Amino acid sequence: MRKNKEFANRGYALIPKFAYVPQEDRFLLSTGQPHYRFNVIGTGVNGQEHISVTMLEGRATIHGVYDPNPSSVEAARRVKARFSEEPLVAYQSLEAACNDPAVDALIICTPNFTHLEVLKTAVQSGKHILLEKPMATNLKDAHEIWRMAQTYPKHLQVGLQYRYKPIYVEALHEAKERRSLGEVKTITILEHREPFLDKVKQWNKFSKYSGGTLVEKCCHYFDLFNLFAESRPVSVYASGSQAVNFKDFEYGGEKSDILDNAFVIVEYQNGVRANFNLCMFAPMIYEEIVLCGNEGHLKASEGFNSQAHSEWKSQVEVICLPERTSRTLTPSYPFFIEETGHNGGTYYEHLRFMDTLEGHPSNAATAEEGFWSVVIGVAAEESVKRGAKVMVRELLEASGLGKLV
Ligand SMILES: NC(=O)c1ccc[n+]([C@@H]2O[C@H](COP(=O)([O-])OP(=O)(O)OC[C@H]3O[C@@H](n4cnc5c(N)ncnc54)[C@H](O)[C@@H]3O)[C@@H](O)[C@H]2O)c1
Repeated sequence: MRKNKEFANRGYALIPKFAYVPQEDRFLLSTGQPHYRFNVIGTGVNGQEHISVTMLEGRATIHGVYDPNPSSVEAARRVKARFSEEPLVAYQSLEAACNDPAVDALIICTPNFTHLEVLKTAVQSGKHILLEKPMATNLKDAHEIWRMAQTYPKHLQVGLQYRYKPIYVEALHEAKERRSLGEVKTITILEHREPFLDKVKQWNKFSKYSGGTLVEKCCHYFDLFNLFAESRPVSVYASGSQAVNFKDFEYGGEKSDILDNAFVIVEYQNGVRANFNLCMFAPMIYEEIVLCGNEGHLKASEGFNSQAHSEWKSQVEVICLPERTSRTLTPSYPFFIEETGHNGGTYYEHLRFMDTLEGHPSNAATAEEGFWSVVIGVAAEESVKRGAKVMVRELLEASGLGKLV
C-alpha cells in the first residue's frame, strides 16, 4: 500500500510552480522512484488517461507505447513529458511492445473490436494486463477472454472503473458494508450526456466495432447493477433508438447505426430488479443511481451543466427507517485526482492494479465480472432489435454458453 505522506503530496509535487525545488531538497515533495514499467497499447483518449494516472500514481512509469496512428503516439509523448523527462519508447509492432523484457505490465486501450486479437498477443508475454472495457463486442469473444484469464498466471484486470467513482464507492459502502438500506430490492441508474466524441477511424459510431452503445458505454452501469444485485441476470428487456445523434453520419460509405437513447430493465435470479435510462443527446453530463431497500433509500448523483459555468457536483443522500441515521454526503477525491478523468475512477482503478501486483487483495474488476457486464449489454442490444424480452439463458445457449446458467 502507498505511504500516506507520499500519496498525499504527489499532487503538489507535480504542480509546475514547485519544479524549482532541487531533488536533494525535497521531503514533502519527494515522489520516490517507480518500481514498475508499463507499456500502453493504443494511446487515444483513454490510453492517454492511463498514462497520466500511472505517472501520477507513481509506483510505475510508462516505458513505451504502440499505436499505428502517429498522432496518438505524439499525444502519448506529450502526456508523459508532463511528468517525466525520460523519453517514451515508441514500438513499431504490437509484438515488440508486448515482449520487451524491461516492462512488467501492459495496458490495452485499443478499440473494442480489437481487444481479443490484441490480448492473444499480449498473453504470450506472461505480463500483468489491464484490458479496457468492454472486454469484447460479443459473447463468444468475451467468454474466450474470460477463459484465457482463468488460466493466465498473471493478473488480468478489466477496465470497469466506475465502481471507483466517489458516488458509487459510497453507494456500495452504504448498501453492502453498512447495510443502511436493508436488502436492496430495486436499482435505477440514469445517464444523460452529450454524444460520443470523435475517435480514430470513428469506430464508436458502428455497432460492429463497438458492440453497440449498450455494450460499449453501458457495460459500466451493468457492472454496477451486478455489484448491487449480487446475483445473475435472468432476463433483459430494452427499448431504444437512434433518435438524434449521427443520423446523417457516414464513414467509409457506411451509415452509423448506434443507439442514442434506451430504457433497459434487468430481472435477477434473486428477485432484484434494475432499470437503466440512457440519453446521449443531453446538453450536460449527469449520472444518477437510486437504490431502494426494505429498510432505506439511497439516491446519488454526479455531473455538471456543460452549457454554463458549472462545477462538478457529487451528492449521496441516504434516508433510512427511524432507528438509523439518515445523511447527505458530498463525496470527492483530491482535485488533482478527480481531474485525471472519470472523476478519479481511473486513478483508483490503477491503485487496485498496483496493489494486486504487489500481492495485496483488491476488488478490481475481473474477467468474469467483465463477461457478465457484456452479457447484459448484448442482451439489451438484442432486445431492442427483437422488440421483446430476452432470456439470458437462451442467449447464452445460442452462443454455445448454456453451461454458464
Ligand atoms: N473505462 C472507461 O471509462 C473508458 C473510457 C474511454 C474509452 N474506454 C475504452 O478504451 C478503448 C479505447 O477507446 P478510446 O476512446 O481511447 O478510442 P480512440 O479511438 O481515442 O483511441 C484508440 C487508439 O487505439 C489505436 N489502435 C487501433 N487499433 C490498434 C491496434 N490494433 N493496436 C494498437 N493501437 C490501436 C488507435 O490508433 C487509437 O489511437 C476502448 O475499448 C474504449 O471502450 C474506456
